[in-house]
Amino acid sequence: MGLFKRVNLAFSRRVHWRLPIALTEPLFPEYERLIWQYTSGLENGVIVDVGAGYLLPDSLKCERSPDVTLIGMDILPSSLEKNTDIDAAVIADACKPWPFEDNAIDVVFSRSVMEHLYDNDTFVSEMHRTLKPGGICVHVLPGKHAPFSLLNRLLPNEVTKKLVEWAFPERKGELGFLAYYHHCSYPALKRLFEAKGFSIEYKRLRYYQSAYYVAFFPIYFLSALYDWAIWKTGIERLASQILIVATKPGQ
Ligand SMILES: C[S@@+](CC[C@H](N)C(=O)[O-])C[C@H]1O[C@@H](n2cnc3c(N)ncnc32)[C@H](O)[C@@H]1O
Repeated sequence: MGLFKRVNLAFSRRVHWRLPIALTEPLFPEYERLIWQYTSGLENGVIVDVGAGYLLPDSLKCERSPDVTLIGMDILPSSLEKNTDIDAAVIADACKPWPFEDNAIDVVFSRSVMEHLYDNDTFVSEMHRTLKPGGICVHVLPGKHAPFSLLNRLLPNEVTKKLVEWAFPERKGELGFLAYYHHCSYPALKRLFEAKGFSIEYKRLRYYQSAYYVAFFPIYFLSALYDWAIWKTGIERLASQILIVATKPGQ
């Protein structure tokens, strides 16, 4: 790592550790905990990780009942081939009719996927059709009004990819997928899920997105000030990350 980057990272970390934990705390651990909560008690049934890629949530990498089928669904066969923890791989576009019967699935979840879907109307409709009554879904995704999301839409995808690969070489291939952010703010998602027949069970919003800029301290510092101010105002549509749990009523 070059000296320039090391110095910037060191300054950014000093600011990071001084920020309130309630602002910086990531949502992924809670996402993992929720997945565990909704799947660990299942004795039989079907669980679908949409946009599974090659990584399953850690909370699912444990022994489960032999009558539970864990399906990874993704548009990219190359990612699913590397996903060794799933019971079955389904190659499908989540924005087109899903290859499952009505009322067939117990739990659907997705991590960092909904922002990449070009039609979240169809995605949520299909999830509602295929979930059993009483079925549950859990999603975590970035908010469309966060500065990094605006930047992501503004810059050509190849430039974004290069920038994130420079800042986070260890995450090469994981970041930089084309993103649409269709309905990706909490108020828009709530309207969408409720219009399709879901009840929102739980939500948590995060306002800290400065971690994207740690490799360039001046931007990181300004961004951290912005995140702190937006967090204090609590404007839901400006949240930079959303965790949402919804149920299909009927049980
Ligand atoms: C950022 S990756 C997240 C992968 C995984 N969920 C994780 O947390 O590591 C986004 C995934 O969504 C998949 N994806 C993008 N558009 C899709 C679509 N229309 N239908 C299904 N999967 C899609 C991509 O192939 C990719 O695997």
